[in-house]
Amino acid sequence: MIAQSLEPTDTVLSICNDYLSATTTRKFPATAIVQAIQQGGRRTLTASAVDALARSRQQLSQMDDRPWESALALGLLDTLVPSAVGGQTGAGYAGYLALPVLQAAATQPQAWGQPDTYGRLASALVADTLEFEQQAATTDLRLRATRIRHLSRLLAELGEQTHAIISAHAVLGTLSQRERDALRFSVLPVSTLRHEYLFLRILQFFELTFVTVNHELAAASIALIAGEVGAAAVHLSSAAKRLRRAQRGWPALATLQPAAFHQFRDYTTGSSALQSHAYKLMEAYCRRPSEERLMSRAYHDIPAIRDKIQAGRIITLSDTLRNVNRLSTADVETVAALAHSARRLDEVYLAWKRSHYSLAGRLIGSRPGTGHTEGVSYLQLNLDEHLFDADVLELLRQRTGPGHVVEAGRT
Ligand code: HEM
Repeated sequence: MIAQSLEPTDTVLSICNDYLSATTTRKFPATAIVQAIQQGGRRTLTASAVDALARSRQQLSQMDDRPWESALALGLLDTLVPSAVGGQTGAGYAGYLALPVLQAAATQPQAWGQPDTYGRLASALVADTLEFEQQAATTDLRLRATRIRHLSRLLAELGEQTHAIISAHAVLGTLSQRERDALRFSVLPVSTLRHEYLFLRILQFFELTFVTVNHELAAASIALIAGEVGAAAVHLSSAAKRLRRAQRGWPALATLQPAAFHQFRDYTTGSSALQSHAYKLMEAYCRRPSEERLMSRAYHDIPAIRDKIQAGRIITLSDTLRNVNRLSTADVETVAALAHSARRLDEVYLAWKRSHYSLAGRLIGSRPGTGHTEGVSYLQLNLDEHLFDADVLELLRQRTGPGHVVEAGRT
């Protein structure tokens, strides 16, 4: 039994010690851990609490037969224990975003990021943020109204509704128990501040978007190599559409005021989307980065991705698109649809970077980044870099033809 007056970190320690000393195998009390952390914020966890979490992780990982509740609990512990998984969790970006927990929402590892799982989880992340804002105690009613409006628009966009404000409650009602738990366990902020909730959820939402865009890019690449130009056009169109819809996340995040942001930002030092595997993969699937970028801070914390690129283990879409004529016998219209989709993707990628850059400028000015770059000036370096190689974009432009408006594929 845990005394109510304990500090959150002592509560975590006490729960773990209870779990570790049990003589019979029992369920890891993940909900109680999450509640304790949410009461104080992650930054209050002491080294002994983290050590107890690490020992609990060790014990749980030795279980042979793991029901999904334990898989989720393991995801939680991977998230909280530094370097539990390839140095990417704990204090880093993946740990901050609780990515192992969100991944455990998928029934199979390969289902993570697939369009179906994405559709539900991405909407659920936004719906959950919307509910949180609606229930938050605040005197700043104008700010809250603006934030709710933008989140509602984003939710409607994801649900492909043109104007209706769809209910967050209805979206959350479609989740399985496993997905609901993953959603609850994935809020492990450093503080207890209301504004960090929005920041964390929007980061998770974008990250999940990148993962799904990568599914589409990989599928497009496979289709092109097989000479299936029509299928590749559908996948590229879908990738562009997902990134375009996600753009509505920016106005919602822009309701974050600099003063509120800086109250929690300092505690996130060392965790930056600079370490996002998914974002760097999205770029690398389309074009090989320059050697200069590969050797810069951009890849410093993600050497596994850099090594994969340098070893030539990623066939870029720029290369396959360059050879599209040789690979297929597709008709002019199909090739035009493919070119259109690729160019559209390039445009939304540039738009994504511009939105990111301008919000980052407003929020941090000339301060350095939490990933130890110079900050906004680092972002500026890559701002106008396209997703595809320049010669491929020129080729695509010729194939699309003036005024070509074919929007390939599914909605
Ligand atoms: C709200 C405020 C935000 C600020 C102030 C901000 C600021 C920055 C800064 C300064 C960097 C440079 C690296 C560093 O030292 O950390 C960076 C990188 C990055 N950020 Fe953000 N960011 C914000 C939101 C987001 C969001 C919501 C995402 C979505 C996932 C995101 C994705 C990225 C990515 C992918 C990079 C790496 C870009 C590259 O290496 O070219 N950022 N951000």
